[in-house]
Amino acid sequence: MDDRSWEEFLIPYEQAVEELKVKFRGIRKELKKRNEYSPIEFVTGRIKKISSILEKANKLGIPLDRLEEVEDITGIRIMCQFVQDIDRVAELVRQRSGKDMTLVYEKDYIKNEKPSGYRSHHIIIKYPVHTSQGEKEILAEIQIRTLAMNFWATIEHSLNYKYEGNIPEDIRERLRTTAEAAYLLDTEMSEIRDEIRDAQQMFEYKSNIVSRILQGIQNLYQRGFVVEATEFQNEFRQMRARGDVSELRQLSRTIRAKIQEVRTRE
Ligand code: GTP
Ligand code: MG
Repeated sequence: MDDRSWEEFLIPYEQAVEELKVKFRGIRKELKKRNEYSPIEFVTGRIKKISSILEKANKLGIPLDRLEEVEDITGIRIMCQFVQDIDRVAELVRQRSGKDMTLVYEKDYIKNEKPSGYRSHHIIIKYPVHTSQGEKEILAEIQIRTLAMNFWATIEHSLNYKYEGNIPEDIRERLRTTAEAAYLLDTEMSEIRDEIRDAQQMFEYKSNIVSRILQGIQNLYQRGFVVEATEFQNEFRQMRARGDVSELRQLSRTIRAKIQEVRTRE
């Protein structure tokens, strides 16, 4: 193929990179606007270099007139903050399947880490591009990974490039160690996040109980049950200092029962 034919061949792939970047960045944008958490941190995309397309076709025994069988000419990379986000992004892609893209297959290099230490979730999709020549369906590779996985893969890739794929065994061993460190970083971050979320939920739960107690006490005052209201208030003050949630929950129930009781007498 000459330069012109390459240029023409790559048109739909370039179009697909641009469209897919807009679509996945759009998900993040929308969630941010809604003040919701985005499992997508940032998105990049690239077209495979011609020399790499030829190299890969050669490696896989793909003839030159069927280069569209190379699956990653269009490559999209989606970076996530936490490992759990990767599944959510993969699920977003699965839900799109049959709509504006079609899932072909998935490769889970997170459960099945590569011997190099590489980890990421890959999804191969078919994607229809509308060109001036009509519709063309192309293949694209979506790589979903955490920031730590991306950090590792980026550096490992540049070392591989530098050593032309022949990284000395001692360095490869050290890279596997750093992959393990990246994995630990991801695990630790996830745990911290879960703990923070649990603490936040507990805080909300407790605030709700406290506000119910205060409303109940006020209710009793208004109905003229000053003695009962004052007693509850004293009890509440002591409990609040102790900070026990189940105690507070019990008090909230007692107050509610009391209100119901005095209501029937009204
Ligand atoms: P190639 O590895 O590209 O020849 O493709 P493949 O058909 O073997 O598919 P695979 O799923 O193994 O790899 C697809 C892509 O994942 C690669 O092009 C890289 O972007 C990435 N990848 C896979 N393995 C590694 C690795 O060991 N290190 C790094 N840095 N990236 C990797
Ligand atoms: Mg490979």
